[in-house]
Amino acid sequence: MQKYYSRQAFWYDATRWSFLHGRNELLRRLELRADSRQTLLEVGCGTGRNLVRLARQYPGLQLIGVDVSKDMLARATRSTLAYSRRIRLFEAPYAPNTFALNEPIDVVLFSYSLTMFNPGWEAALDRAVQDLHPGGKIAVVDFHNTPSGLFRRWMRHNHVRMDGHLLPALQERFQTLYFSTRSAAAGLWQYFLFVGEKA
Ligand SMILES: C[S@@+](CC[C@H](N)C(=O)[O-])C[C@H]1O[C@@H](n2cnc3c(N)ncnc32)[C@H](O)[C@@H]1O
Repeated sequence: MQKYYSRQAFWYDATRWSFLHGRNELLRRLELRADSRQTLLEVGCGTGRNLVRLARQYPGLQLIGVDVSKDMLARATRSTLAYSRRIRLFEAPYAPNTFALNEPIDVVLFSYSLTMFNPGWEAALDRAVQDLHPGGKIAVVDFHNTPSGLFRRWMRHNHVRMDGHLLPALQERFQTLYFSTRSAAAGLWQYFLFVGEKA
């Protein structure tokens, strides 16, 4: 993963906007209050694109980003500089006991990251359950599935597992507040949005 993103980090923001659908909608669906004093953790925060948007929109929000890629985090450090008093970044894999958080988390956000945790997506969901306080929210937008074996293999080559495996696992662990699957690229692949609550 570190090697993959050492090559991708430079181009990431310039190219990914065209197909990482649903990211802004998911942030809206969090329904945060304008004066929110909550703490939000983005897992696989990449270049910090979502963290900057959230920090700009919610001046009281405390934000934490975690990622395994040094190169993506280097970009995130630069892009979030204006909000560095409210945004903390950690370089670590997200799994039980990999790094300590000293506060309960109100929202855990995964934006096109969880399909890249292979292995590790189940451990990441277990950690999210641990980190959230009861009533805390999890929000996920990610690739869902594809009818094309060729496209599935291409995505796999790019470290993305696209087997429709995440949505049932999320629905099993969290109370569903919202979910939707959507078609993209004329039906070549689907993505999903999920917002859930820890019981
Ligand atoms: C496609 S990028 C998404 C970045 C950002 N969330 C966005 O929406 O633009 C996926 C990110 O997940 C990170 N990642 C992959 N496996 C990880 C793991 N086990 N723990 C933490 N981050 C991971 C990658 O390094 C990469 O920065």
